[in-house]
Amino acid sequence: MRHAIPAWIRIPVIFLIIVGGMEYFIDSGKNFAFVEYPILQLVLLIILLFLIAAEVVLAAFENILFKSLSPEAKERYMAAHEQRMKKYDLKVIYRKLMGTRPISEERDLELDHNYDGIKELDNKLPPWWLYSFYVSIVFAFGYMVYYHMMDGDSQLDEFEKEMLAAKIAVEEYKKNAPDLVDAESVTFLTDPADLEKGAALYQTNCMACHAGDGGGGIGPNLVDAHWILGGGIKNIYHTISEGGRAGKGMIAWKSSLKPAEIQQVASYILSLQGTTPANPKEAEGEEWTEE
Ligand code: HEC
Repeated sequence: MRHAIPAWIRIPVIFLIIVGGMEYFIDSGKNFAFVEYPILQLVLLIILLFLIAAEVVLAAFENILFKSLSPEAKERYMAAHEQRMKKYDLKVIYRKLMGTRPISEERDLELDHNYDGIKELDNKLPPWWLYSFYVSIVFAFGYMVYYHMMDGDSQLDEFEKEMLAAKIAVEEYKKNAPDLVDAESVTFLTDPADLEKGAALYQTNCMACHAGDGGGGIGPNLVDAHWILGGGIKNIYHTISEGGRAGKGMIAWKSSLKPAEIQQVASYILSLQGTTPANPKEAEGEEWTEE
């Protein structure tokens, strides 16, 4: 039984079945299980080595048994073995697929055309070509029915569907990952919940230098229209994240505040625009007008 299939087919097949089983039973999301859990690569390697070792041991065992056979039995065994192995002979398989007949049979193929000594052979179409052709006919039929009679998606439809799905996925992703904002993508938040959080962050971190109402102190007035480092949500986000000019006392807050928090406090500051603080510091910097 063991000899029905040669080892060079048996080992890869068993190995692939094991890998397939692994993929089927282990939940590894979109990745292959052995990519998700690198330890499995080691396990697979050990399994592979084990399979090869088993083959080697079996072959050695068989060799011993073979030696114990009588000469006639040896011969019978060899003949049967050769017969079985014939269908796995790559050369035989190749010749079958190509449909070529050995030169020695050429005489049977000859047509009785003879053009100045140039003769013609009547070779059959090579089976690999013929069967690919049949498969393509079946495929074309299915293709025609699906795309031209049953209204299958055209390339454009498919493209549009995929773009739509991607857009939804991106929205979904952004919703769950608000920390993704940066100075380029930041927007002015108007949701009261965000502004409240921004106010709380401001009271804890910024009030000491910019005053509770944003009127300014050590730091500049934040409620007037003048900005040293540029107004508008993007500049303000950038200033808070990266800090002010060196030595002025405004640190880069990105080390202690999350991007989403910086966005909230920046929005809160912008929401104070035009209010009247108790002790406003004189305006500094350029007047900012939003383009
Ligand atoms: C230690 C004092 C200090 C603290 C605390 C502080 N700042 Fe400042 N801030 C400053 C100074 C000083 C400047 C001016 C920087 C410059 O001139 O480069 C400034 C500048 C700014 C500016 C730019 C103003 C402009 O005119 O361009 C913004 C916006 C700002 N701070 C927001 C904040 C926020 C938000 C916090 C809290 C997370 C905060 N600051 C905490 C001292 C402070």
